[in-house]
Amino acid sequence: MPGKPWDIFTLDDFNLKGRTVLVRVDINSPLDPKSGRILDDYRIRSHLSTIRDLDKSKVIILAHQSRPGKIDYTSLSSHALRMSQLLGKRVEYVDGLFDSHVRQRVRSLGPGEKILLENTRFYAEEIVLKGEKEHSKHENTHIVQHLAPMIDFFVHDAFAAAHRAQPTLVGFTELVPNLAGRVMQKELEDMGKAFQPDLSPKIALLGGVKVEDSIDVARHMLEEGSMDQVLTMGVIGHVFMLAKGIDLGEGSVSFLENEFPNYQKLVDQASSMLDKWGDKIKVPTDVAVEGNGRRNVVSLTGLPTPEPIMDIGIETIIDYTKHIEQAKLILVNGPAGAFEYDKFSIGTTEIFRAVAHSDAYTIVGGGHSIAVLEKLDLFKSIDHISTGGGSCINFLAGRAMPGIEALERSKRIFKKGPFQTP
Ligand code: 3PG
Repeated sequence: MPGKPWDIFTLDDFNLKGRTVLVRVDINSPLDPKSGRILDDYRIRSHLSTIRDLDKSKVIILAHQSRPGKIDYTSLSSHALRMSQLLGKRVEYVDGLFDSHVRQRVRSLGPGEKILLENTRFYAEEIVLKGEKEHSKHENTHIVQHLAPMIDFFVHDAFAAAHRAQPTLVGFTELVPNLAGRVMQKELEDMGKAFQPDLSPKIALLGGVKVEDSIDVARHMLEEGSMDQVLTMGVIGHVFMLAKGIDLGEGSVSFLENEFPNYQKLVDQASSMLDKWGDKIKVPTDVAVEGNGRRNVVSLTGLPTPEPIMDIGIETIIDYTKHIEQAKLILVNGPAGAFEYDKFSIGTTEIFRAVAHSDAYTIVGGGHSIAVLEKLDLFKSIDHISTGGGSCINFLAGRAMPGIEALERSKRIFKKGPFQTP
């Protein structure tokens, strides 16, 4: 149950000096598709607190970048470089995950040394077992079986991937004590505050392009009552507009067809959600498109348009701002439109500013949202900025989080073991 005091080990429960510690982080970052340059290093910066607190240990870092088939699915060499620069100490990139040269390097590690291994998703086991519920399947992978005998502790710091069950996230649970890293600890503490009973009304503003995840999570939020209202924007808003029977026009529909070959199924899902919770789901009532190089606001009666929808319009901004002003808990995940273009950044800017000025407990998650906060200089006005996108909304929806469950299970197993600092 989210919000409860988590019974998990942290770095403070053990003397880690001189011990070999495997740390799973989430430094999955936006990259420039041409140069491979890291465009936003928020997640890398976040994990430095954990790496610094392990300065007397022998540290092996595990991470993933993107998914097979995506343009930013790359090796982690530039991540190691950026981490070294930010840390002011060398983080050596080792080109492999459990091959003999990797194992040799791990055995030769000295206290204070840090290595970052290869993108875990380059290895089939990590991909094919994604979502596997049976624990032994993760534990019995080559990845886990090769790495586990060389380590004393596993630190789970990848809150942003804690909604995933994959070997490098949950496979070490029963083999060595699993400890929450500093990012995981802070996320659980700060996100847990969202479950205080007096924080109502609770609203979730769901935008961006991760439509499948968001629709599913929105349904769970309304079913379980973990949110009172869901305000849709970005591409998620487009799907709900279609579900309302609004014809958006060729530009928006062909974008959806290209990005989500199953988009009709998503529209059907959105439609049955509207049937059930029509009063709890807000859908944009006007939008902005490009016309003659300018921003044109179009009301629903002006649709369809041949141009793709790029932002929400002023009427929607005003309406959503009213809800923001009345809310006691606000979750924002994803921008309201194509924020990277100045003329279509208005919806996102106004919504994020309204959230920043609200008295509610505010949580913002997801890579694009963090980029927006950075650009608008709103970092200090948000109560909690989550490293997680999907994991943040899943956590707040009250869904199962395999990564956190693994930490709890590991503590139950190793509580009475010989490991604990006296
Ligand atoms: C994220 O960016 O949300 C996490 O790194 C998880 O990535 P995934 O959705 O590809 O599993």
